[in-house]
Amino acid sequence: MKEILAFIEAKKQKFAQLPLLGFMQDKNIDPRKRLAWSPCAAPFIMGFGELNKYVFRDLTSSDPIQLLINQHTEEDDHHWLWFLSDIDKLGFDYSLRFSDSMKFLWSEATKTPRWVVHQLFRYALESDPLQKLVIIEVLEATGNVVFTNTAQVAQELQVITGNKYLYFGGFHLAVETGHATGTNDIENFLQTIEMNDIQHQAALQLAEKVFELITELVNALFAYVTTYDDQQAFMQPSTIDNAVIAA
Ligand SMILES: [Fe+2]
Repeated sequence: MKEILAFIEAKKQKFAQLPLLGFMQDKNIDPRKRLAWSPCAAPFIMGFGELNKYVFRDLTSSDPIQLLINQHTEEDDHHWLWFLSDIDKLGFDYSLRFSDSMKFLWSEATKTPRWVVHQLFRYALESDPLQKLVIIEVLEATGNVVFTNTAQVAQELQVITGNKYLYFGGFHLAVETGHATGTNDIENFLQTIEMNDIQHQAALQLAEKVFELITELVNALFAYVTTYDDQQAFMQPSTIDNAVIAA
């Protein structure tokens, strides 16, 4: 596992160079705009809670790594509540008809966040506890980069608005340590996990694929935030053809 963690660390440095992260660091842009990709991330963030609750967690297992993962999921399965609270504080909590909110959540603009969460479900369902741990380590490494940046923006916004941002601010970052959480001395424990050659190769490939997915996600959020303004984002043409409905 030691080599896998080193691989993840190297990929994390590269991931930190993606344009969305530079966009969030650009103080010439209104801080609220720098977080205006968040509605597009909703399918991923909501799905991520369920990934923890229903796929990463396995209460029937006594495997020590699975027990560690179960602890981790207790921390990570409810952060979407903080996200919804911040959506309100950021002023993105528009009133929409139920059908319009469905059209947005299943629109082309939110396709990648949905797709990425489906793929994570697929990888996690095919994984043994050790492979799940590799997926979690990549998610934590990339999450740590994203939340380090959002916390900076949230700090700037807090000075302006007086609001405390639970999901985007330091509150969330404090529990997104960059590694699986909920177990004492986790970093040392991870270093001691041994793998055979086959496990090692599979873990490397899996880590690579999950980095690709999260890169795809972050790039889709960047495309969204640089394409739409806040209002327009919810008013795109539906992917449902009205002529089809009438027929
Ligand atoms: Fe989280």
